[in-house]
Amino acid sequence: MHPSALVGLLAFAAAASAVPTEPRQAHSSSSIDNLKSNVKNVVVLVMENRSVDNLLGGQTIHGLDNPINNGPFCNPYNVTDPSQGYHCTTAKDYDSVTDDPSHAVTGNTMEFFGQWTPDNAMIADGKLVPNNNGFIHEQIHNHGATANETVKAMLAKQVMNYYTEEQTPVMTSLVQNFLTFNHWHSDVAGPTDPNRFAVVAGTSAGHGSNDHTFGTYAFTQRSIFQQLGETNHTWLNYWDIAGGTGPEAHWFAWTKATNNTNKVVPMTQFHADAANGVLPEFSYLNPSCCGVGTTSMHDSGLISDGEAFIKQVYESLRASPQWEETLFVLTFDESGGFHDHVPPPLAIRPDNLTYTEKAPNGEEYTLEFNRLGGRIPTLLISPWVSKGYVEQKGTSHHGQTVSYSATSILRTLGYLWDFEPFNPRVESAASFDHLIRNSPRKDAPINLPTPQKFSSKMRK
Ligand SMILES: *[C@@H]1O[C@H](CO)[C@@H](O)[C@H](O)[C@H]1NC(C)=O
Ligand SMILES: *[C@@H]1O[C@H](CO)[C@@H](O)[C@H](O)[C@H]1NC(C)=O
Ligand SMILES: *[C@@H]1O[C@H](CO)[C@@H](O)[C@H](O)[C@H]1NC(C)=O
Ligand SMILES: *[C@@H]1O[C@H](CO)[C@@H](O)[C@H](O)[C@H]1NC(C)=O
Ligand SMILES: *[C@@H]1O[C@H](CO)[C@@H](O)[C@H](O)[C@H]1NC(C)=O
Ligand SMILES: *[C@@H]1O[C@H](CO)[C@@H](O)[C@H](O)[C@H]1NC(C)=O
Repeated sequence: MHPSALVGLLAFAAAASAVPTEPRQAHSSSSIDNLKSNVKNVVVLVMENRSVDNLLGGQTIHGLDNPINNGPFCNPYNVTDPSQGYHCTTAKDYDSVTDDPSHAVTGNTMEFFGQWTPDNAMIADGKLVPNNNGFIHEQIHNHGATANETVKAMLAKQVMNYYTEEQTPVMTSLVQNFLTFNHWHSDVAGPTDPNRFAVVAGTSAGHGSNDHTFGTYAFTQRSIFQQLGETNHTWLNYWDIAGGTGPEAHWFAWTKATNNTNKVVPMTQFHADAANGVLPEFSYLNPSCCGVGTTSMHDSGLISDGEAFIKQVYESLRASPQWEETLFVLTFDESGGFHDHVPPPLAIRPDNLTYTEKAPNGEEYTLEFNRLGGRIPTLLISPWVSKGYVEQKGTSHHGQTVSYSATSILRTLGYLWDFEPFNPRVESAASFDHLIRNSPRKDAPINLPTPQKFSSKMRK
């Protein structure tokens, strides 16, 4: 038997035992009715820059395709010169990566295709598929082109190695108690802001870098904030006043034109609103970024600071009078240049926009937004999801088996709050309405474990 067939069987066995609710079909009216009658508040928290194989690489739960279950996975130091050696995934021995892996669109092409300027026609035809082979090459190119072997080995570990269950006790508890997606990708094979934009608008509006337009009220695309505002649903964009990510609500012309700028409020209010049972229907949470002491899990910060933040958000929700009608979506913006072994699939273009930049080989590369970025950790946390369940691929409205992505959130919220998909990417996305059970669980932990601080000598 092919190893991947065995993984599939294991995943099926785990799934079969873990879903004590009748199976539903995504996009079906019974599934949508069930979602609408049980979920009243949605909380979305978008963390920073982690791949599945990085943050969840050491989770032993069945059905998660990661290094500890199915690896090790290896990358060469140099994609064109195998004689320079390889590094294979193994557990991390330090936290925090000061050498931020490349965030550019063409950094992504090197990481996923092993070349800076892959042939777009061949990609679109499915003749050129990602080999996920260039993560170390890119990291060395960026941070250690002239470095010695010791430094190169450290750079390789930075992008390839994974966190263990013991190093990430908060994530481990969430994976074991709630629902984790095995095939959830970032929407844009590029950096932070385009991906954050895609979470709330279903496109990056043709942007492929963290350019200065973000942070101004420049964008005219329809956002989830406008959609809910125009249909009298309540929302707030809670953000960590230390800054560093978003606030996404301030990126849209609509927010300013309609005097909704005051719907961006400090995170402290989130905890108070949860305690008082007055969270809006839609809460969008921005963590702080990016160094030690910030909360987003950005690579230059500490995983334990991010875990402390997630624990606070969870415990506030769990203690809230609104818990029994809450769905908490914990996700990331993109995979941050960290290795993941699952090739990102093609995807429907959201619009006709493209983005062009000059690659390190001197050639121009145009991203057509017809493929997804790397796999990112995403969990559904709620009394309405099954315990320790790993979801595999989803289903589009057209019945195709597809990977999930940020637009899956907009697709599902459209069912919950009666709105049409914003664009073709959202229209074709897998929804997750069918993962909501028909009775709430009473066994969700009140508290999560204390985050594990790595010893300082393990930091780099
Ligand atoms: C990670 O996040 C930072 C801050 O938002 C961003 O500048 C950078 O592009 C991201 N890194 C990657 C690899 O995308
Ligand atoms: C990879 O190897 C080739 C062939 O030896 C060399 O020309 C190139 O500079 C190397 N690239 C890096 C990033 O070390
Ligand atoms: C490798 O380079 C680093 C950084 O420049 C240096 O600290 C270290 O001593 C070097 N190691 C060897 C074995 O040359
Ligand atoms: C929203 O509320 C306003 C004021 O009560 C009302 O005029 C409007 O029709 C409502 N819109 C929708 C879509 O329900
Ligand atoms: C926004 O606020 C300004 C100043 O208070 C006011 O003049 C304007 O009419 C308001 N616009 C809307 C759409 O409510
Ligand atoms: C893209 O352009 C084509 C050709 O002009 C047009 O038919 C199509 O509707 C456009 N798609 C979107 C999403 O704007």
